Amino acid sequence: MLSQTLLLLCLSPLILQPCTAQLASIQNNTFNASYGQFNPSQTRNRITQANLSSSVSSDLLVALDFERTNWAGSSTHLDPFYTDLPANASSAPAGSVIKVEQYTNTSYYTLSPGLALSRCLFMTKNLNGSTVPASAYVLWPYLSRTFSNLSGIPLVAFGHGSSGATGECAPSHIRNLWYQFSAPFTLALQGYAVVAPDYAGLGVDHDFDGNFIPHQYIAATAQGNDLLYSVEAAQAAWPQLSRQFVLMGDSQGGGAAWAAAETLANSTIPGYLGAVAVSPSTSVRSALEVVLGVPTILGSGLARFALGVQSVYPAFRLTDWFTDIGIAATRLLQDVQGCGSSASVLLVPDAVKPTWNQSWYFNAYSNWTSVGNKPFAGPMLVIQGTDDPVVDLDQRFTTTVVSETCQAFPNSQLEYATFEGHSHIGALFFGQQVWLNWIAQRFEGVRVEGGCLGTRYQPELPLENYQEELEYYLEYPLYGYETA
Ligand SMILES: *[C@@H]1O[C@H](CO)[C@@H](O)[C@H](O)[C@H]1NC(C)=O
Ligand SMILES: *[C@@H]1O[C@H](CO)[C@@H](O)[C@H](O)[C@H]1NC(C)=O
Ligand SMILES: *[C@@H]1O[C@H](CO)[C@@H](O)[C@H](O)[C@H]1NC(C)=O
Ligand SMILES: *[C@@H]1O[C@H](CO)[C@@H](O)[C@H](O)[C@H]1NC(C)=O
Ligand SMILES: *[C@@H]1O[C@H](CO)[C@@H](O)[C@H](O)[C@H]1NC(C)=O
Ligand SMILES: *[C@@H]1O[C@H](CO)[C@@H](O)[C@H](O)[C@H]1NC(C)=O
Ligand SMILES: *[C@@H]1O[C@H](CO)[C@@H](O)[C@H](O)[C@H]1NC(C)=O
Ligand SMILES: *[C@@H]1O[C@H](CO)[C@@H](O)[C@H](O)[C@H]1NC(C)=O
Ligand SMILES: *[C@@H]1O[C@H](CO)[C@@H](O)[C@H](O)[C@H]1NC(C)=O
Ligand SMILES: *[C@@H]1O[C@H](CO)[C@@H](O)[C@H](O)[C@H]1NC(C)=O
Repeated sequence: MLSQTLLLLCLSPLILQPCTAQLASIQNNTFNASYGQFNPSQTRNRITQANLSSSVSSDLLVALDFERTNWAGSSTHLDPFYTDLPANASSAPAGSVIKVEQYTNTSYYTLSPGLALSRCLFMTKNLNGSTVPASAYVLWPYLSRTFSNLSGIPLVAFGHGSSGATGECAPSHIRNLWYQFSAPFTLALQGYAVVAPDYAGLGVDHDFDGNFIPHQYIAATAQGNDLLYSVEAAQAAWPQLSRQFVLMGDSQGGGAAWAAAETLANSTIPGYLGAVAVSPSTSVRSALEVVLGVPTILGSGLARFALGVQSVYPAFRLTDWFTDIGIAATRLLQDVQGCGSSASVLLVPDAVKPTWNQSWYFNAYSNWTSVGNKPFAGPMLVIQGTDDPVVDLDQRFTTTVVSETCQAFPNSQLEYATFEGHSHIGALFFGQQVWLNWIAQRFEGVRVEGGCLGTRYQPELPLENYQEELEYYLEYPLYGYETA
């Protein structure tokens, strides 16, 4: 039998050559994560102190290591880009750009070929309207898409879906920018420049005085501010970007794009062409309703919301929602800077008090931050899978909110595009042609009539033939032969 080594051809460097690296080993979960203060033994100690079961503890350690191996280079707490705020910018208004990293070294990322990256810090407004610093990346196309009446590189702002609720959960320091081909790579490969904020509290988690900036998870109005102000800041930093722009977002970011369109209903800004909300989170209540019957997942969800609630209602106490073990798990997530992967395995029985939703805070926060049933600046395209178990279970959330909005504001320019099938992130792929065409039409200046339009898309083959959700992640190759 031939040695497997001889059959492997390396694509790197430039020419095909036999590989001299080790034989391929199966992908395993022994992720290498020893960045800075997050040394494994310290993390283990902290997990031990939280009294979790041994299986949850070991799952958490693996998930944390997975997250940390996906950082672009280092922890946000060690990267001066995020930690060093220019002192003279502390009173800069929302929408100002306060730091520009013109060239971001893409060798720390798993970007698609043909893309370039910049990062910036800018000022935004949190839920209560206070001005805080935040970070964003800008993904640049190789060739700009041209439109007859447009000067500059056409600009799309992209709001990411839930990445987590701690400082390390910033897409701009994740190797695949968190949403990779789902939207940002695709947009940039199509010739758009993409500005994507890390929502306030992710990335930059301290203000100019060193005060903690909590991420206000699924608070669409706050994340809508981040989208709008990142556009203003990027346009100030890079005059080659078009003045016209489209807002887009998925899941948490779908809520953000919708909320930004609502903010613009009262005071539209020059250049705004419309918004695309894909699989949008329409409220905190809908985000949690689907897990009410699964106490462990409910606890993991509430652990992410607690900080945001605490940030606007200082009288809120973790004991309003959590048992002692739940409080320990919630603090641990922040302490070890766990993100979405960590939260998904931090499944602790009996973490949530049965009376948690009888306190005023949850409903008040949800009412404040929900989208829909309000006027918005159109046009808006909402894309939704018909059997999305995350944001539209049994068509009770997105579909209901769209229909209520259309009833209350019948002249809204709202197009509701639904795609047959069970899918959350997958909707970005099923609907890719539809949202790309819609965005192109906005830059082409195609007019949209008032009124609501519903379009139901069906697959060419029976639905069960199709890949439904993401079944891959992008990994950094260690050896030259890892090119697939
Ligand atoms: C898989 O795990 C083994 C043992 O922990 C380790 O030596 C090896 O480098 C790992 N392989 C990869 C591809 O991470
Ligand atoms: C593991 O991380 C350490 C510290 O960042 C680094 O020096 C080392 O090269 C990494 N090893 C691998 C196989 O990535
Ligand atoms: C802060 O100082 C830098 C460097 O001197 C300068 O370029 C920048 O414009 C200043 N920013 C503000 C907001 O004053
Ligand atoms: C990017 O980073 C890599 C790895 O640290 C380094 O080898 C390379 O020189 C850097 N490129 C530039 C242009 O700074
Ligand atoms: C827009 O203005 C109306 C009336 O002043 C107000 O009730 C509403 O809250 C405003 N909406 C936003 C999103 O600011
Ligand atoms: C934020 O605004 C809410 C509603 O106006 C108010 O009840 C709360 O006290 C404010 N919180 C902070 C921290 O300013
Ligand atoms: C963990 O268990 C120890 C020993 O039973 C106890 O002293 C400690 O208070 C517990 N910690 C938490 C966070 O529940
Ligand atoms: C409150 O939450 C519990 C789960 O903790 C759930 O069973 C109950 O239905 C919820 N009540 C309401 C009114 O949503
Ligand atoms: C939230 O909104 C609902 C529906 O409008 C209302 O019945 C409820 O009183 C509100 N709750 C709080 C705490 O604001
Ligand atoms: C381009 O701009 C001109 C002048 O404003 C206008 O007449 C024309 O209709 C525009 N074309 C498109 C495709 O929007």
